[in-house]
Amino acid sequence: AWLAASGPRKVVLAAPRSFCAGIERAVDVVENVLEQREGPVYVRKQIVHNTHVVSDLESRGAIFVDDLDDVPDHATVIFSAHGVSPAVRAEAAERGMEVIDATCPLVTKVHAEARRFAGRGDTVVLIGHAGHEEVEGTLGEAPERTVLVESVDDVLALDVPDPLRVSYLTQTTLAVDETADIIAALRARFPALRAPGSDDICYASTNRQEALRDIASAADLVLVVGSANSSNSLRLVELARRQGTPAYLVEDARDIRPDWLINNRIVGITAGASAPPRLVDEIVEALRGLGPTEVTEHETSRETLQFTLPAGARNAGRCPD
Ligand code: F3S
Repeated sequence: AWLAASGPRKVVLAAPRSFCAGIERAVDVVENVLEQREGPVYVRKQIVHNTHVVSDLESRGAIFVDDLDDVPDHATVIFSAHGVSPAVRAEAAERGMEVIDATCPLVTKVHAEARRFAGRGDTVVLIGHAGHEEVEGTLGEAPERTVLVESVDDVLALDVPDPLRVSYLTQTTLAVDETADIIAALRARFPALRAPGSDDICYASTNRQEALRDIASAADLVLVVGSANSSNSLRLVELARRQGTPAYLVEDARDIRPDWLINNRIVGITAGASAPPRLVDEIVEALRGLGPTEVTEHETSRETLQFTLPAGARNAGRCPD
């Protein structure tokens, strides 16, 4: 029915979208290590939370495992972008593994804060989602001094040994507005609350949310490209819905249901930080295939950040340091 509607469909692409610097680096790490090593290359957990990225690297030889139990002693193992707890590092060292660490430097920063805050005797309140790999890694830095909160209700139920010694940290991929509410609740309960030196929600999550906020309110429908376990992609879907716009998470063009497009003439598209840019191109092509389509981009910021590759994964051609 929508094919008969008049005028071209409008597609508005949020910018920035797709890969961030931490994900680019993690994917480069696996690619370089696969090129450089003769033996098997293990990757603990999905290197980034995207099924396309993982299956592509798998087809090139990477062996993805959930646990170090599945990695032989002395093998080469890559740690994913989400980071690991000290206990995982210790086990890898004990078993003589060659570790190449693809943890995003912005996650490493949060780990360092967790150690520092716990070291000065604070209860560390970690705002994040239970069960997410990044959260498990950060919690592992000082498990006896860290508590996880997911909501304002969790803050209200908190019981800490010394209300004057409380600091907070956040998962890097949260929604900026929702987290602000939780921090406000923490501050109300613990006026001496100490904050991290700079925001833990990373630039990439913040920028993707900001770019989408503008277009979501003007669109009839929002498509967010990303996998179901990608935290920052899920936050984008929720953000669009909070603007009152129907929004769906799609792995790729095959997930688009024609009925979503009925009477929806303005389609906003973004992609989580772990979703490859080509998936967005494929979706735009698929929409063009369905009828006249006008594509524009709405850019709210430009990203130039790049991270150096870690030791053990440098490619002399690209990383002269
Ligand atoms: Fe790092 Fe943020 Fe990307 S923490 S991996 S830059 S989404």
